Amino acid sequence: MLKKFKGKTAFITGAASGFGKAFATEASHRGMNLALVDIDGKRLKEVAESLSNTGAEVLAITGDVSLQNVVDDAVKTAMTKFGQIDLLINDAGIVIEGNVWELPPHDMQWILDANVMSQVYTMHDVIPIMQKQGTPAHILNVASMAGLLTIPGMPAYHTSKFAAVGLSESTALDLETAGIDNVGMSVFTPGFVQTDLYHSQNHRPERFQDPDNPYYQSNTYKDGEKWMKKCIETGHTIASVVKPVFDAIENDTFYILTDSGYEGELNARAQRILDGTRPSV
Ligand SMILES: NC(=O)c1ccc[n+]([C@@H]2O[C@H](COP(=O)([O-])OP(=O)(O)OC[C@H]3O[C@@H](n4cnc5c(N)ncnc54)[C@H](O)[C@@H]3O)[C@@H](O)[C@H]2O)c1
Repeated sequence: MLKKFKGKTAFITGAASGFGKAFATEASHRGMNLALVDIDGKRLKEVAESLSNTGAEVLAITGDVSLQNVVDDAVKTAMTKFGQIDLLINDAGIVIEGNVWELPPHDMQWILDANVMSQVYTMHDVIPIMQKQGTPAHILNVASMAGLLTIPGMPAYHTSKFAAVGLSESTALDLETAGIDNVGMSVFTPGFVQTDLYHSQNHRPERFQDPDNPYYQSNTYKDGEKWMKKCIETGHTIASVVKPVFDAIENDTFYILTDSGYEGELNARAQRILDGTRPSV
């Protein structure tokens, strides 16, 4: 279990904003070296500078973690600078709303690449490093309550977050089966929290640009964006989740549920599965 953070290295994706920035800040308070990756180079630079000013060793890497070669290079760069990776936080992510028959399929591809394949690429590179180190290490995959429960209007986000939960659960099983017992694993499943997530369009990579697609003028899209902004702005504060998440890492808690009040829904979902009942709004 990763209990001593001082002098260890955290590799954090999506570190320029929201959860990623908050986790990087907490890791720096705990004396960790930081390898921070984000597609938004300008904001990442600001975060890196402010954390460096507090005395942390910070490596800022601008890059799109939905691309395997970018992740490969970032991991190599971090290893060259720090020589070890002890905490991997897979945080980078986006949201996009809209039902599956109107949402352009390339947006489903974008979200799967950003929210899921990014986690695949980092774990593929970092788990062998952690195994070789043989010292306590931990992986935190940021999923969402949307990876455990569904609501209308977000099939792309749900698909990506259910995948992130499944990827985390199955990797935990594989680590155990392979006897890689120095690597802990958690999946973080928060409800709505005040971040910049509703500005995900600003992080759309070039290969998924399609500005003339009429979908982005539709009410489905515009209403979805408005609704998401409201949900995020009225969510919990980010400060409320940081300590519980680091406590969970220290305690090797697998499912990190920082919101209370979902017990009824989670039990109802399990019962619906057993009963074969279709979900209903
Ligand atoms: N805010 C919430 O209510 C909430 C709830 C549950 C889960 N989450 C998850 O938390 C994670 C972080 O989101 P947030 O809420 O802090 O939002 P945010 O927009 O504030 O931060 C996300 C960061 O990820 C970066 N990013 C996006 N795509 C990237 C890419 N391809 N490569 C590299 N960096 C990329 C962005 O530039 C941004 O800095 C996401 O996975 C999100 O799905 C958020």
